[in-house]
Amino acid sequence: MTPFSWEAGLLPLVLGGTALYKFKKSQSRTMSSPVVLCHSALICLWGAYCFSSLSVFWAWTLFSLACCISLAYSTSQEMLPVDGRAVLITGGDSGIGHALSKYLDELGFTVFVGVLNENGPGAEVLKKTCSKRTSVVQMDITNPDQIKEVQAQIAEKVQHTGLWAVVNNAGVLGTVGDGELLPMNIYRQCMDVNFFGAVEVTKAFLPLLRKSRGRFINVSSMADIGGTKELWMKQEKDILENMSPDVLEAYGRDYLRSSTWPSLQYFSKMPSDFSPLFTDVLHGILCKNPSALYTAGVFSYLWICLLSYFPVSVFDYVANKIFHSNTLPKALT
Ligand SMILES: NC(=O)c1ccc[n+]([C@@H]2O[C@H](COP(=O)([O-])OP(=O)(O)OC[C@H]3O[C@@H](n4cnc5c(N)ncnc54)[C@H](OP(=O)(O)O)[C@@H]3O)[C@@H](O)[C@H]2O)c1
Repeated sequence: MTPFSWEAGLLPLVLGGTALYKFKKSQSRTMSSPVVLCHSALICLWGAYCFSSLSVFWAWTLFSLACCISLAYSTSQEMLPVDGRAVLITGGDSGIGHALSKYLDELGFTVFVGVLNENGPGAEVLKKTCSKRTSVVQMDITNPDQIKEVQAQIAEKVQHTGLWAVVNNAGVLGTVGDGELLPMNIYRQCMDVNFFGAVEVTKAFLPLLRKSRGRFINVSSMADIGGTKELWMKQEKDILENMSPDVLEAYGRDYLRSSTWPSLQYFSKMPSDFSPLFTDVLHGILCKNPSALYTAGVFSYLWICLLSYFPVSVFDYVANKIFHSNTLPKALT
């Protein structure tokens, strides 16, 4: 081991300090303090290890390398200023889109909120509570004429500043249930809103975003869009009314109830705090180098891991444990 030399360690120390400062500055708005602290602690520990155990040459080289990587990463994570940038959010009547509209308005963005019903309660709340920078616009994303109209309105309003981001948030629950039980209109509505609607909005606004070199944020769900008790009851009623007698006989009413209510109980326990999602959306909108994929909250990433790295049977087992009781369709008992 070579004795520690302050002169040799000066450059890495300056680099390390700069890296820590830049990291803290760039991450303070997007990451929790424990994450920033952990990162800083890791760099310090790495420095301590290098200089206490390695020769000056290797300590210098490895610690400087770690600092350079950290510096490059934190520089790429820097956030752009809000500066009244214009953002369009779809599905602002309720839920995430509604709360996100208020959040971005408070941060100083110029917000266009597309709503399914411009005279509905959600739209009225936004008109009353948000600043003058926020405009509520009628936009059913399954209606091409409404999309075109909003695109023209926005293009005119932002001709000098540009449209910076579009958040494709509008979505419908569809129904969680056995495929055979769902009527075709539920599949169609789900695809019309969650897929074709988002595609049509994307195509309509791409020219504006190309001009501004802005961003699309697509909010999607791995089934934790939960719906409400009323919605589930209505869907259960619709399903029962549309079900042929032989299918009803094969599944049985007990199974139908048992396959629906555990899921609802699961969803009702989901946290209602949107802040992890808002942090990610803000990062996607403002970060100089945004990620391609964000998984807000710990559990969503676990689901992705489960789906990506484990056999399907393991995923099925876990999903079954969470979403279903042990009741089997009548025909299988
Ligand atoms: N909640 C979650 O835990 C969760 C998790 C992951 C991802 N997501 C995703 O986040 C997005 C929002 O979900 P959310 O939980 O906020 O659900 P939500 O409360 O039902 O919000 C969806 C919004 O979209 C609107 N909408 C429905 N059809 C539309 C259409 N054709 N055109 C325009 N707007 C339409 C709804 O209007 P109405 O209010 O009038 O129905 C509602 O305001 C969805 O894309 C969902 O997949 C949610």
